[in-house]
Formats: sequence, C-alpha cells, structure tokens
Amino acid sequence: MSDPSAHSQTEDLIAPTAGLSGGVRTPSKHDSGPKHVAGEAVYIDDIIEPYGTLHLAPGAATIAHGKITKMDLSKVRTAPGVICVLTADDVPGVNDVSPAHTHDEPVLPDGLVQFYGQPVFCVAAQTRAQARHAAKLAEIEYEELPAVLSVDEALEKQLFVAPPHVMKQGDAASALAKAKHRRSGRMEIGGQDHFYLEGQISFAIPQEDGDVLLHCSTQHPSEVQHNIANVLGRPANAVTVEVRRMGGGFGGKETQASQWAALAAIVAVKTGRPAKFRLDRDDDMIMTGKRHDFIVDYDVGFDDDGRICGLDIQYAANCGFSADLSAAIADRAMFHTDNAYYLGDVEIRSYRCKTNLVSNTAFRGFGGPQGMVAIERIIDEIAMIVGRDPMDVRLANYYGTDDRNTTPYHMVVEDNVLGELTNDILKSSDYCNRRAAITAFNAQSPVLKKGLSVTPVKFGISFTTSFLNQAGALIHVYQDGSVHLNHGGTEMGQGLFIKVAQVVAEEFQIDLDQIKITATNTGKVPNTSATAASSGADMNGMAARDAAMTIKNRLIAFAAEKYGVAETAVRFVPGKIIIGDQAELSFGDIIKQAYLARVSLSATGYYATPKIHYDRDAASGRPFYYFAYGMACSEVLIDTLTGENKVTRVDIIHDVGRSLNPAIDRGQIEGGFIQGMGWLTTEELWWDDGGNLRTHAPSTYKIPACSDRPEDFRMELWASGRNVEKTIHRSKAVGEPPLMLAISVHRAIADAIASVADHKVIPNLNTPATPEAVLYAVADLAKRMIENAGQSVVMAGAGE
Ligand code: MTE
Ligand code: HPA
Ligand code: MOS
Repeated sequence: MSDPSAHSQTEDLIAPTAGLSGGVRTPSKHDSGPKHVAGEAVYIDDIIEPYGTLHLAPGAATIAHGKITKMDLSKVRTAPGVICVLTADDVPGVNDVSPAHTHDEPVLPDGLVQFYGQPVFCVAAQTRAQARHAAKLAEIEYEELPAVLSVDEALEKQLFVAPPHVMKQGDAASALAKAKHRRSGRMEIGGQDHFYLEGQISFAIPQEDGDVLLHCSTQHPSEVQHNIANVLGRPANAVTVEVRRMGGGFGGKETQASQWAALAAIVAVKTGRPAKFRLDRDDDMIMTGKRHDFIVDYDVGFDDDGRICGLDIQYAANCGFSADLSAAIADRAMFHTDNAYYLGDVEIRSYRCKTNLVSNTAFRGFGGPQGMVAIERIIDEIAMIVGRDPMDVRLANYYGTDDRNTTPYHMVVEDNVLGELTNDILKSSDYCNRRAAITAFNAQSPVLKKGLSVTPVKFGISFTTSFLNQAGALIHVYQDGSVHLNHGGTEMGQGLFIKVAQVVAEEFQIDLDQIKITATNTGKVPNTSATAASSGADMNGMAARDAAMTIKNRLIAFAAEKYGVAETAVRFVPGKIIIGDQAELSFGDIIKQAYLARVSLSATGYYATPKIHYDRDAASGRPFYYFAYGMACSEVLIDTLTGENKVTRVDIIHDVGRSLNPAIDRGQIEGGFIQGMGWLTTEELWWDDGGNLRTHAPSTYKIPACSDRPEDFRMELWASGRNVEKTIHRSKAVGEPPLMLAISVHRAIADAIASVADHKVIPNLNTPATPEAVLYAVADLAKRMIENAGQSVVMAGAGE
C-alpha cells in the first residue's frame, strides 16, 4: 500500500494547478448541479420500475406504550390490490435493525408498542395508494401501559437506553466551592426534524437464489447490507446495497434507513417481485428519529473577569424508545461542552433517557450543537454578572496555546486558531462600532430592540468511535484512458463525490470530465463506515488518492523501464506524462501502452485516520484528529410586543484549511448556518399528551424559508486557513461545523431581550427561540425587573 498522506508534488498546493480543469482547489460546480436543477438527477423514486413492482405502506400504532392484545388484519388483506401483509411473524431472520446490535429495534414489534406511530404491520399492494388505503383498515386492540414522554420523568424514573457516563478533569466541586462568583441554571434545548427533501425510501429488487439488490437512500450502505442480511437470515454476500445519491440525509439516514429497507427486502424475497417503500412525508416525520432534545443543568464558578474556574454540568438527552446512536451522540455533546473554552476543573455527567417516543438519531453536529449552545449561554450569563462585554469574556476563556490547553477529555488542543480568527471577525464585522451603535439604538427604541453576538466554533473531526475512521476506494482505468471512480462515501448533496473526483484528477493530472463518478455500492467497496462525522472527504479522498497512487506508481515503473529512464524522471503534468527526455505521452497513450504490456490498471485504496485513540471508560485520549474552527457575528432585531424576530446581518469566517473546492465549501457553510438557525429559531416539535407528534408536516413545522435568510449575509473562507495535520491536500472537514455558527443568532436574540432591562436581568431563553418564546422571555424579564428593582444583576427565574 502506498501512503496516501505522503508528501506529493501537489500536497501543499495553494492555487489550482494551471492547465488542469477541475483539480483540487478549483471551485468546480457540484457534479449533479445541472441535473438537480433540470430534474434529471435520478433519485430512487425516479428509477424506472420493473413490471410487477409492489408498493409498501406502514400500519401505525395509535398509542405511545402498551401491549397489542388483538390485531385483526383481515380487512387489510382483502382490500383491493393488496398482495401481502407483514407482521413480526413474517421476519425470516432476526427481527432487529438496531445499529449497534443493542437488539432493541424490531423491524416490526412482536406485541409491544413503544411509541405513537410505530409501524406495527406493513402492507404491500399493487399501487402505493392501495397500500396506504388498506393500512387504515386494521383493527387493533391494546392494553395500554404508562407512557414516559418527558426527559424529566425518564430521569426521575432512571429509565435509560444506555448507562450514564462521566467525563472529568480536576475537582469541579472544590473549584466551585472556592469560586468568587457562582451561577447555576437550567436550559432546555429542542430537537429538530431532518426535513431532507427526499424522504426515507428503499427499492428492493429480487435476484437469483433469494438474493436482493437494494437501492436505498442511506448514508450507511454497509450497515443496511448487514442489517438486511440478518433480517433475511442470509449472509452479507446475499445483499447488495447501492446508493447513487440522497436528497439530503443530515444524519437522518445514518441508521434509520434500515427499517424500510428491511421491509422492502422481505416483500421482494417473499413475493419474487420488486418492492418499493417510500414513506409519506407525515409518516416520515412521525416514524423516524430526530435531533435529541436535551435538558442541561449547570453550576459554574468564575472570577471578576468572567474567567471560568469550575463547572459542573449535567446533560439529559431524550433518546426515545431505543439506543440507536444515542450513546455516541450524548458523548459528543460532552466532548463539546467546552466549545472553544478552557474549563479547568470540570465534571460532565450525561444521562441517556429512555422515553416512549420515536428513537432519536444523528443530526448534523451529532450532539455537539447541544453541548455548545449551553456553554455559549453560560458565557453570556457570566458576562452579564461581571458586567463585561460578552466578547471579552469569551476571549478570557479561550483555550491557550501553551497552557490552559487541555480539554475535559485530556486531549491537548494543538491547532488553536481562535485568537487569529477572532481578530479577523472583529475587524470584518466592525463589532465594536456596531455594539456602540446598537446600544444607542436600543436606548431610543422602546419596542424594537437589536441584539449582537459573536460566537466561536471548535468542532472535533473524527468519529469518536475510533474504529469507524477507515475508508476504501476502487479505481479502474479503461483502455481509452477514461477513469471509473468508486469509494465508500455517499453523496447527499454535500459535494463529496466532486471533491473525491478532484483529488483523483489532481493525482493523475487529468481533466475532471475524464472521471466517471459512480454510485456507492457494497459490491465494489465493502465494510465501509457511514458517511458522517463530516469526515467523508477526509477519508474517502485519501482512500481514492491511495488507489490512484497505486496505479500511478505502476505506470511510472512501466514507463521508466520501457524508456530506460529513472523513475524520478517520469512526471505527470496536466494532460500528459513526461518520460525524461525520451517521450511525452497523453494519459490515454500511456494507458494503452501499459495495457498492452500487461500492467494492471485497477486498484483498491484504503485509509485509516492516524493519531487517534480514545479510552472511553477513562474518558481520556485523543478522539479527534484535528479541530475545525469558525466564527460568526450575528445581528438581530426583535419586536418586544410580538416576539417576531429577524436576522439583519451575519458575518462568518470559517476555517476549511486549504479548500478542496471553495464553491462546495461555501455552500456547506451557508446551508449549515441556515439549518442551525432553523433549529434555534423556528423549528419546534410538539407532541400532545398522548405522545402523538402534532407538528408532522410543513404546515405546522417551520423550516427556514428563503425569506428567513439574513438580510445582509457575508461569508468568507478563512484566508489563513490551514491544517497542521496531513489531511487530504491539507483541507478541513466542513459538513457539520458551520451549523453551530448559528448559535450566534440565538445569543444575539438573548442579547436583544436583555436590553429590555439594560442587561441587568438575565433572560431565560431556551431553544428554539420562536416568536412565542421570545415574547415569553421578554415578559418574564420585565416582570423580574420590576420585582427585583435595586439588585445589580437579576438571575433567571423560570429556568432555575
Ligand atoms: N449537506 C447536504 N447538502 N446534505 C446533507 O444531507 N449532511 C451533513 C453535511 N452536509 C448534509 C450536508 C452531515 S450531517 C454530514 S455528517 C456531512 O455533510 C457528511 O458529509 P461529508 O462527511 O462528506 O462532509
Ligand atoms: N459522528 C457521526 N456519526 C457517528 C459518530 C460520530 O462521532 N460516532 C459514531 N457514529
Ligand atoms: Mo452527520 S450527523 O455525522 O450524518
């Protein structure tokens, strides 16, 4: 194996290679961009259906917790068009699709309902309408059991999907006891629906010997393959999963595609007919997990400058009925308790609460955002108590470079660029002048209030489950010099495929259009990890480069021998290969010659992230290869009579190292920020007392619209961006980190609310800061201002 991270002629490139169309650093458009806008990109529901295709629909439970005492499906079975009806008894192998083999997620439950809307049976009919209609005809009786619907109640009853976990450094209790100032509080953080444009979908096509080919909208084809093989009671080699693209995943398809894939596969094998399961949007929102909502309780100690000297913090995550990825997600919240700050003596406890709700799952940031939003609120509260500008308190708490640089999990932060980035954002956003202007504005504006906030992002890159940090690729070069590229990463709109293709174009010094990007397929690259943790390009880029280097090295050896020159005299330059002073050949010509000389033109590539290790029991190690950093400055305007708010200006500087593709990276930063803004301001999930999700459609669940974009939106890739680690062409991961830039919006809204009481009363603002929540926070603040007139800083009321 060649070392894909070894220094090459291209590693330290700053600008694109001249004469090469679409190498690294080029702002190439998304490979499917034109097809996306023309409606020609093939999503699973666009695949032409073979004759006889069946369509599936779920039959949902109508209680949150209880036993099924009777399930009469006779009317379902005899409804028009129905070909078969599945219950738990029809699962041929193991009735489980849990990702971590926790065996707590049945394909269909065997008698026990664990959340309202849980699929308890499944119909396959000739048309989708017939299946959906038939599914409503079931007659089911239940014996209801008490349902736990809140985190608080689960915590009180000690109901967990995974054991509690602790992370600590020093002695938080004694640091707190000695602290000059102390503040405690509670923050409630809401969940978020993924609202991918393409919902969950799987299309199973039966093959000979009872095998199955599955087209599945999943971030994790290998896991779907293994789960479906298990469910069918067959070996993994009987199932092939293919993913050309997803219409968005955002973490929602890291684990939660398996259930629908399993049902489609069972029907395909049972009937011998192709079977498609496309969830209706409402069903998708009801039946699939979301971002975890959290309750955070904190107790922080600090000095007169606002410098934190001790923190005791407790997270309770609402995991829903099963474990899914909750343990890793709750861990990542703990890993990001610090965000950008040195916390000194700290104790972090985390509870993974089991409730009778849909099982929550990965969502962009993977728990990190929940950890960070809490510490940013804490910093703002400290600033109010010590009477300093929040920016100064942030600066006072930043990680140092030589000291104050260990995280609560004992990793030394070696690549800290917070100081430099902050200088740059303060300048480009004109923070100080605008702070003064906003103070003046608020003084003369009784109803409309402005708020301003700068918040940092430091996000750890790598799967915290260390073994997942591996990737594979497969490259074929055909006799005409055209290249077939495949790797284990999946495309969900994030631009992974184009980035990896650019890496290969750079390695071979050929134009991007000579490379065919192909669908992810478990038959080509096996045993892959989910495309997640933002590490898709880092890992698959390296694996693809490894494969390309293997072929390239064979070509170099061949050319050197054939033309009698040293291997070092063979050079790949744009469009051709220079062989000492003997020959100059096009890429196609050297390939032809190599083929005739019986040189293999196909190679696999592999990459395992170096340097990482983590001892979870001790909560200690280096779980992350490096950190991605960014800064955002947001300005908002709120109406204190209605709670309405809008984001008037945003400045972002984000560190993508040396970008593989600046156009794609910009898209990720803008999109991530807006998605984070939606989570923190407008997207509210609401379940009724029976555990029935009532915000299950865009009519009641409000994702950001075009009109919610900041009026003035300025974003730059950080010009000094670099990666001290040898990542692919020294780039940095960009998928998740920008979401957390949106925390500045939430903090700016809190700042605007606080201005109502001249920053003397601490607002109690949870997330999402919907107009209703803002109005409540303003009213609550005004009430406490009157009640506590005379005190220097009034603590939050309802939150404590
Ligand atoms: N961007 C788009 N357009 N669609 C998506 O579904 N998912 C995000 C992010 N950006 C997503 C996206 C999430 S949750 C992750 S982990 C990364 O992309 C995954 O891709 P990457 O590792 O290639 O960055
Ligand atoms: N991020 C995303 N997905 C994951 C992780 C992670 O850190 N760990 C396990 N699955
Ligand atoms: Mo992303 S939440 O790691 O799929």
